Amino acid sequence: MQTTVIPGRTVLCKRKPATSTFYQEVVKGLSAPQKYLDSKYFYDAEGDRLFQQIMQCEEYYLTGCEMEILTSRSAEIAAALAQHASTFDVVELGAGDATKSIHLLRQLLSNGTDFTYFPIDISANVIGQLEQQLPVTLPNLRMKGLNGEYFDMLQQANTYSHKKKVVLFMGANIGNFNSTAAHDFCVELSDYLLPGDLLLTGFDLKKNPQVILRAYNDNAGITRAFNFNLLTRINLELGANFDIKKFEHYPTYDPGTGACKSYLISLEKQQVQIDDVCINFEADEPLYMEISQKYSLEETDQLALATGFQPVARFFDNKKWFVDTLWKRV
Ligand SMILES: C[S@@+](CC[C@H](N)C(=O)[O-])C[C@H]1O[C@@H](n2cnc3c(N)ncnc32)[C@H](O)[C@@H]1O
Repeated sequence: MQTTVIPGRTVLCKRKPATSTFYQEVVKGLSAPQKYLDSKYFYDAEGDRLFQQIMQCEEYYLTGCEMEILTSRSAEIAAALAQHASTFDVVELGAGDATKSIHLLRQLLSNGTDFTYFPIDISANVIGQLEQQLPVTLPNLRMKGLNGEYFDMLQQANTYSHKKKVVLFMGANIGNFNSTAAHDFCVELSDYLLPGDLLLTGFDLKKNPQVILRAYNDNAGITRAFNFNLLTRINLELGANFDIKKFEHYPTYDPGTGACKSYLISLEKQQVQIDDVCINFEADEPLYMEISQKYSLEETDQLALATGFQPVARFFDNKKWFVDTLWKRV
């Protein structure tokens, strides 16, 4: 295994072998007729740090809206959970730094609810941080962090506990799937759950297109850096030679479909080498990085009903820009 060192990065990264899933998925995406990268790979330690900065950006209203819901309505959310289940475990998909869900966890603890918290995240870095910090912030919390893909880890959580499940999927993570993938994801999720299990999902709602577009194009350029960081990660971990100066960040929002998409545009005809694979970019060719799908309330209900869930409650921020929906597995 080789070691790649990039000046300015504090971590020495071991190069992943060409057989790694990361390598295979990156090469598959870059070899497709319309080049893409999977946004789940944004989150190495630097990606986690940049995402936490995005959440502090004035333009990125999503965090403030959902934080308002969790800080002001956790008692109501906990009461709604208690109506459907007296004892359960809380599994959070893509927990990140859990800065919002912590308010619900605190409320459940103060209600005396008997539960274990299973945060799941593909980033080993954030799971490590949660395991260090949460027991300090919430000393009575029983928790077990699970580092890996959503469903692999959900399966593991099922082996640790057979209690009823309350699944949290916050922060508009579901928006990182296009409509078809979100449908397929919810169908698969419902297969891992039992009738009566609950799902609390954050949806960013359709609103003024300028407000949405600004959230993915902040003035300080942090979202731009977050996108470029994936190219740097590929350089570090897969030994590629992306020159980020030869790409520009291009966010778009289509108010007709609710799809907010980020691209990196190749500024010139160029070749990028990844291990022994050579990728050709044309001038102006787009590399699709991420979708952040926006929903109407009707679309959230339709998604629930089409995938084995019954909508049971909605929790909004004051502006009604964001909703956390509570669904019950039928
Ligand atoms: C947009 S951030 C949101 C974090 C958190 N839910 C919040 O609201 O602040 C997405 C998180 O999901 C994780 N993630 C993305 N794809 C994943 C996957 N396929 N399996 C597990 N975790 C994933 C990322 O590592 C990241 O921490």
